[in-house]
Amino acid sequence: MSIEIRKITEWNRGDLADICEATEDAINDNIGFNWLSPPMREVMESYWRGVLLVPERELFGGWLDGNLAGAIQLIRPGASKETSSFCAQIEAHFVAPWARGHGIAKSLLQMAEREAANEGFTVLKLSVRETQDAALRLYQENGYVRWGILPYHEFVSGKTIAGHFFYKRLQALSNVE
Ligand SMILES: CC(C)(COP(=O)(O)OP(=O)(O)OC[C@H]1O[C@@H](n2cnc3c(N)ncnc32)[C@H](O)[C@@H]1OP(=O)(O)O)[C@@H](O)C(=O)NCCC(=O)NCCS
Repeated sequence: MSIEIRKITEWNRGDLADICEATEDAINDNIGFNWLSPPMREVMESYWRGVLLVPERELFGGWLDGNLAGAIQLIRPGASKETSSFCAQIEAHFVAPWARGHGIAKSLLQMAEREAANEGFTVLKLSVRETQDAALRLYQENGYVRWGILPYHEFVSGKTIAGHFFYKRLQALSNVE
């Protein structure tokens, strides 16, 4: 079994198809991504192409045996956010159900954290639905501090779901080789 974790800066046909499939599987497994059900493939492809076009977004992927199975996005603050320029955000962190339990999510998180620290960010923020037990455990075990719970975070299948909000302090590495 081989695992590869790296930054994605352009799409090839195979990776784009893989990430769309992984996202569809994850949505069907009820993670959301803010989608309730998988959109048409063209819409999904546009979403992933769009991610690479947003200057504030950095995308990292995780491959299991050559198949792209999960991803994480690091979001930098926009240029006008001068007062919070120290703080970046983690979003859309997921692994397809068939590839879970091999350490891909943890490695993706560590790579995004290293990149954030390299860029000089000292705080990372993220939020998770209260129903995502594995994710809640993963972030707590990796040093994320829960600072609040928003009772009205998302609305899924006729129910309001709470969100747990976390932060982690990073050691900025921008002056370190
Ligand atoms: C949360 C998620 C990303 C974990 O992916 P994964 O690749 O299976 O996680 P890893 O294999 O890297 O495991 C990381 C740690 O979490 C633990 N873990 C992962 N899944 C677990 C589960 N279902 N039950 C218990 N522990 C679990 C592992 O034991 C591991 O701990 P360790 O480092 O002490 O060994 C994945 O379950 C997922 O995509 N969930 C839905 C999306 C989601 O909730 N995203 C987060 C918010 S956007």
